[in-house]
Amino acid sequence: MQKNKPNPKSMGGYFELQLTAGAEHYPNLIRLNTGRNALEYILKQRAYTKIYIPYFTCEVILEPINKLNIAYQFYSINEQLEPIIDFEIEPHSCLLYTNYFGIKQGAVKELSKHIKHLIVDNSQAFFSEPLPGIDTFYSCRKFFGVSDGAYLQIKKKLSKKLPVDSSINRFSHLLKSIELGIEAGYGDYKANNEVLENNEIKGMSLLTQKILSGIDYEECAKIRKRNFNFLHQHLQAHNLLKFDISESSSPMVYPFLSADRDLKLHLIQKKIYVATYWPNVFKWTNKKMFENHLARYLVPLPIDHRYNLQDIFFMLNTLQQFL
Ligand SMILES: Cc1ncc(COP(=O)(O)O)c(C=O)c1O
Repeated sequence: MQKNKPNPKSMGGYFELQLTAGAEHYPNLIRLNTGRNALEYILKQRAYTKIYIPYFTCEVILEPINKLNIAYQFYSINEQLEPIIDFEIEPHSCLLYTNYFGIKQGAVKELSKHIKHLIVDNSQAFFSEPLPGIDTFYSCRKFFGVSDGAYLQIKKKLSKKLPVDSSINRFSHLLKSIELGIEAGYGDYKANNEVLENNEIKGMSLLTQKILSGIDYEECAKIRKRNFNFLHQHLQAHNLLKFDISESSSPMVYPFLSADRDLKLHLIQKKIYVATYWPNVFKWTNKKMFENHLARYLVPLPIDHRYNLQDIFFMLNTLQQFL
């Protein structure tokens, strides 16, 4: 009888959490724990001395910038959500641009031709592919039911191996969302946002990676696109934000810019939870600035894979009561 080699894998016993096997959407990118840490990774590797950031973005972007003590300067965006570059970009500096709502891939392509050191924040554009040679990062929790996780495209990789993060203590809102409903998990979701602050750069947790490996990305992308197109067809005429639909792959939300500052409130009262992108913009800008107006009046309507056309039709009808 042949002698068996010791088996490195345990066998039998209880069953592990059973998730669908499959493949990640960006298997060749670097897996990290958060989007902000992907930005830190880029800033460290490229050794930039200054970064230009939009007034219209999330304040967590400042975490790595402050940590590395890098100079930063805000820039404004125009009504197409594109940078107004009326300043000299200093040498050894970079410009961060957000692919807003996942509808600005055209602008990303244009900027990549003119800006020497461009960083693309695709946190809102999971399905927009990274452009060759352009440092680009993604945050997974904005699109899928995971508590953390990021992908990064960069040629200049860190030489040391990163420790792997753990998501075990960040899962309560996801579990509660199933057993108790989305509202019941909201407090834990907010607590998780705080837990994600000021962490060191680590590799993506195995739990997050495993969940991301089981997602049917083609289906998710298809549903988003269908829902987005449906809303655009019906809301385009009322939408004060004008955009080219061909530039959007499968966006994060449908950005509806309204003239009614209470519209968000009305929808929330009807259990249509629309976020404010981003509360910190009120601190960074004054009332005369476009970004301040956007933060107040832009209504990001959910269009994701959880919703069929009937749901979207219901949301549209609810919204139309207030137009
Ligand atoms: C535009 C934008 N970029 C980056 C991030 C950071 O992503 P993460 O929470 O994965 O660090 C966020 C939100 O947190 C964001 O809204």
